[in-house]
Amino acid sequence: MGWNSWNYFACNINETLIKETADALISTGLADLGYNYVNIDDCWEALTRDIQGHLVPESKTFPSGIKALADYVHEKNLKLGIYSSAGVFTCQVRPGSLFYENDDAATWASWGVDYLKYDNCFNLGIKPIDRYPPMRDALNSTGRKIFYSLCEWGEDDPALWAGNVGNSWRTTDDINDTWASMTSIADLNDKWAAYAGPGGWNDPDMLEVGNGGMTYLEYRSHFSIWALMKAPLLIGCDVRNMTAETFEILSNKEVIAVNQDPLGIQGRKVNATGTDGCLQVWAGPLSGNRFAVVLWNRCSEGGTINVSWDSIGLESSVSVSVRDIWKHENVVADAVASFGVHVDSHSCEMFVLTPKLSHSRV
Ligand code: GLA
Ligand code: GLA
Repeated sequence: MGWNSWNYFACNINETLIKETADALISTGLADLGYNYVNIDDCWEALTRDIQGHLVPESKTFPSGIKALADYVHEKNLKLGIYSSAGVFTCQVRPGSLFYENDDAATWASWGVDYLKYDNCFNLGIKPIDRYPPMRDALNSTGRKIFYSLCEWGEDDPALWAGNVGNSWRTTDDINDTWASMTSIADLNDKWAAYAGPGGWNDPDMLEVGNGGMTYLEYRSHFSIWALMKAPLLIGCDVRNMTAETFEILSNKEVIAVNQDPLGIQGRKVNATGTDGCLQVWAGPLSGNRFAVVLWNRCSEGGTINVSWDSIGLESSVSVSVRDIWKHENVVADAVASFGVHVDSHSCEMFVLTPKLSHSRV
C-alpha cells in the first residue's frame, strides 16, 4: 500500500511534491492505515547518465538528490519507491536500465530506495521473461530489501512465470480514469486469480480514486474490487487535496483489512446474471473461515444481487452473520443459503460473512 505519482501528476513531479505527499500521508492518517510507500514514477531522471554511466536525477526538479528524499521519508517511517524500464529508455524517454541492471540496482540501494517499479518501454523486442530476471538478481545482490514491481503490461502472461521473479506483476495495459477502463481491467485481472498469493501479486494497475473521471459510487466499486482482488493499493490522486468522499473511500479500514488479510487469496467473480452478466458477485475466502463478498452492479439500472453460499463454497445450511463494511453495520445475524440486497447502478455493496463456527467448512 502506498502512493504513486503517475496517475495524477505524470511528468509534473519534483522533490517538493514528493515531500508534501509524504507529509500528507502522515497528517491525513493514511500512513497509519498502511499506505507506506511513496513511489516516484517516470521523469525523475536526467535525460542522460553521468560521465561514469550512473543514473542521476533531473537537477532542476530533484536538486537535493534521491538519497535526501529517501532520508526524508524514512524519517517519517515511510518507504521510497523509484522507477525505471527494462528497456533502453523509460516510456518518457529517460535512460532505461536494460544492460545496466547491476549498476542501477547498486545506485538505488546506496540511496536507500525500498521499491522498484520496472517498466517495459523500448525493450528491443526481447521477451519479458528474459529482461526481468536480471534486475531481480541485481536487486538481490545489493543486500537491500527492495520490493520488485514488474510493469510488463501483462505481456507473455506474467502470472505464469513471474512468481519467482517479482513481488507483483501487471496483468494488463495501463488503467485510465474511466468506468470502462476500470471494469475491463478488473475482468482481465480476474483471469489470473489462481496465481496470486503472499509474495507475488497480480497488479491491475494503480488506483484512480479521486482523480475526477468516475462518480463516487464508481470509485467505491473500483476500491472495493481492487481490495477484494488483493491488488497493490497504490493511491494515484493528489493526497494533499482530497475531497471528503475520496478520503472516505481510501481510508475505509474494513475494506483495507480485506485487502491485507493474511490468507492473501485473491477474490474472484463467482456469478454474473442480468443483461450481459452485469449483476455480479465477487467473493473470496478470508482468514478465520470468513468470506468477503462484493455485490457489484455494472448495469445501467439498479437491481437486486444475491450471493448464494453455494457459489462461494459454503454449505447452504450454514448460518452466517453478515456485516456491511461500507455502512459499518452488522446487517443480518443468521442468513442461511443466500443473502441479497438492492444495489444502485455502477455501485457495489461489500460484506464480510462469518459462518457459525460449528457448521463452517474446514
Ligand atoms: C507506462 C506504465 C505506466 C507509467 C508510464 C510512465 O505506461 O505502464 O504505469 O509508469 O509508463 O511513463
Ligand atoms: C504503449 C504506451 C505504454 C503502455 C503500452 C502498453 O507503449 O506508451 O504506456 O501503455 O503501450 O501496451
